[in-house]
Amino acid sequence: SKPYEVNQNGELTIGGVTATELASQYQTPLYVYDVNHMRQQMRAFKAVFMKRKLDYAVSYASKAFATVAMYEVAAQEDVHLDVVSGGEIQTALAANYPMNHVSFNGNNKSVAELEMAVDSGLGTIILDNFYELDILHDVLSERDKKQDVLLRITPGVEAHTHDYISTGQTDSKFGFDVASGQAYTALQKAIADPYINVLGVSAHIGSQIFDVTGFQMAAAKLVDLVHEWGFDPQVINTGGGFGIRYTEDDKPLPATEFVEAIIDTITEKTTSYGMSMPAIWIEPGRAIVGPAGYNLYTIGAKKDVPGIRTYLSVDGGMGDNIRPALYEAKYEAVLANNPQAPTEQVVRVAGKYCESGDVLVWQQELPKTKPGDVLAVLATGAYGYSMASNYNRNPRPAVVFVEDSHSQLVVERETYTDMIRLDKHYQ
Ligand code: LLP
Repeated sequence: SKPYEVNQNGELTIGGVTATELASQYQTPLYVYDVNHMRQQMRAFKAVFMKRKLDYAVSYASKAFATVAMYEVAAQEDVHLDVVSGGEIQTALAANYPMNHVSFNGNNKSVAELEMAVDSGLGTIILDNFYELDILHDVLSERDKKQDVLLRITPGVEAHTHDYISTGQTDSKFGFDVASGQAYTALQKAIADPYINVLGVSAHIGSQIFDVTGFQMAAAKLVDLVHEWGFDPQVINTGGGFGIRYTEDDKPLPATEFVEAIIDTITEKTTSYGMSMPAIWIEPGRAIVGPAGYNLYTIGAKKDVPGIRTYLSVDGGMGDNIRPALYEAKYEAVLANNPQAPTEQVVRVAGKYCESGDVLVWQQELPKTKPGDVLAVLATGAYGYSMASNYNRNPRPAVVFVEDSHSQLVVERETYTDMIRLDKHYQ
């Protein structure tokens, strides 16, 4: 089955609206999200825990796509939020998001960011290193406030994914190291701190992972550790990283099966140690927003390099989706007005930016196309908008949410004026 929907005329639809209609109403390039798809994904994650009557938090790793509207949808679904910067905290505040359901990850939180977190009533700070432990102590003692924290542990698990998005291995900038005893020292120090309440431990092994083994190993490692330390955690957070389908070569498990595996491991391990069952927290980002996103472009120039390749250029590119250039990520594109038309050409879909690496789709078959046709790149909802840039002074595209055949602009398109708004003359 195809990973997209068409109407009776065979046109691509998103949330019940045709993609070509969205492109003409809001212009291209355009980010479009099928909101119902995101809701279903969030509900599916929660259902796994509810079915088993467990304490849990499904915490949306909002770095995947952080906007006020998205945080509002998460709040409506009673899904928690993981943030990684002052900017994401500010976005949560702007969305009126319940701050007690927010966790704060990252390996170099600043004093200003920790102050912002504490002052906003942010629920849980996930401490990454001794420096953060020290500066958080100072922030809290100045305010005479107590803060819930998790300690991020480097579990020493290698996830099989792109090196840049693999984080659980021992040689990582993230988390307290276990083998050297740093993690245990951190726990003792945090427990002894009158301003800090250690809820438990946290790990994140990487992103776009297809295999449950890494998650099982990390979950087992966390339980082994806390048991070895004689520490009874209220929370074990196994992070995010559940892989999704970008092209037909990707055959991920349903995201919920990763969660089942994590729960099974933690249940078995804690039972065998006679420990009480902690709450399990997960932090999916990509799995919630990735498949729900579509990037719409207008086709322009076409270049045939005889005997070598055909380049089909569109009006966006690495500024709105840097993942192919950065990770050699693969995507699939469809012709919006007739995705199922017979294919007639093999193309590389290139962007309009001044770099050869500015590619959106490395190689695929497409039906016949002409300038002005709308091309939709599928499964672009994660780390597209959130990693967008103004390279070549191209304005960032607008973002539109579609649900129940109704579309709504949730981020305005940047203008050329926006591009130069912060520039100052040099006198
Ligand atoms: N939790 C923590 C602590 C993380 O660092 C991340 C992602 C997540 C959760 C969510 O992972 P997800 O479920 O989305 O895989 N820019 C890269 C991905 C970087 C991921 C960074 N951390 C990409 O475009 O593939």
